[in-house]
Amino acid sequence: INKVTIKTLQQKKDLKEKITMLTGYDYQTAKLIDQAGIDIILVGDSLGMVVLGYENTLRVTIEDMIYHSKAVTRGSKRAMVVTDLPFMAYKIADISQTVQNAGRIIKESRATAVKMEGGQDIVEEVKATIDAGIPVMGHLGLTPQSVNQFGGFKVQCKEESAAKKLVEDALALEGAGIFALVLECIPAKLAKEVTEQLSIPTIGIGAGKDCDGQVLVTQDMLGILSDFTPRFVRRYADLDNQIKQAFKNYKEEVQNGNFPSLDESFS
Ligand code: KIV
Ligand code: NA
Repeated sequence: INKVTIKTLQQKKDLKEKITMLTGYDYQTAKLIDQAGIDIILVGDSLGMVVLGYENTLRVTIEDMIYHSKAVTRGSKRAMVVTDLPFMAYKIADISQTVQNAGRIIKESRATAVKMEGGQDIVEEVKATIDAGIPVMGHLGLTPQSVNQFGGFKVQCKEESAAKKLVEDALALEGAGIFALVLECIPAKLAKEVTEQLSIPTIGIGAGKDCDGQVLVTQDMLGILSDFTPRFVRRYADLDNQIKQAFKNYKEEVQNGNFPSLDESFS
């Protein structure tokens, strides 16, 4: 198996082949995503909301990220595994602490790269991390770790000045050496412009069709736990109802004596 590397991703951009990324938080799902030929499995800090039931990503710890990343790397043979640095593991005064935290994640979980939210404000941290030998993926636009600053999850950079700053941030991150950039929930036109200006690949979520790749939260696209489905999600399955129905059928058949049958029992 040819493992997906940074080079593979760059070649895809250069050949105009789309890059695919999905989030994964456990061994089983990682295995399925990997076998389906998806390029990157993102152990997103969205696991705080999806797996742990928090209302946002702020309470996720480095230990949480390592625990889930370990399971994901065990399930992935071909796909590249990228792990989010959680809130307060970076964007801190002591840059060497950022590098330590990124290094711990890579060493303990065997992920290939880390992802950080932010632009010019984190350029020094990004550089120091890359200098330590750890590839970094960027993330701009709706950066969920700043949800309290944004006052909710909403489309970013609709104003000219914010759009201009995003382009500058993207160029600064590319200059710092990131290998790819996630663009979340920004106007499609702006994502297209950034994608054209950068030589590294962009990966969009709610950022239109012109990014070099796309990412979705796996549970969202599978229709699991979907009380609220953002507009940018396409549901490729309705597993919520299928799973619930399976649980109900099991309950009913146990109660009415239909399960287990003789075939499912030992004589
Ligand atoms: O945590 C996450 O799932 C993410 C993606 C939505 C890009 O950062
Ligand atoms: Na994230």
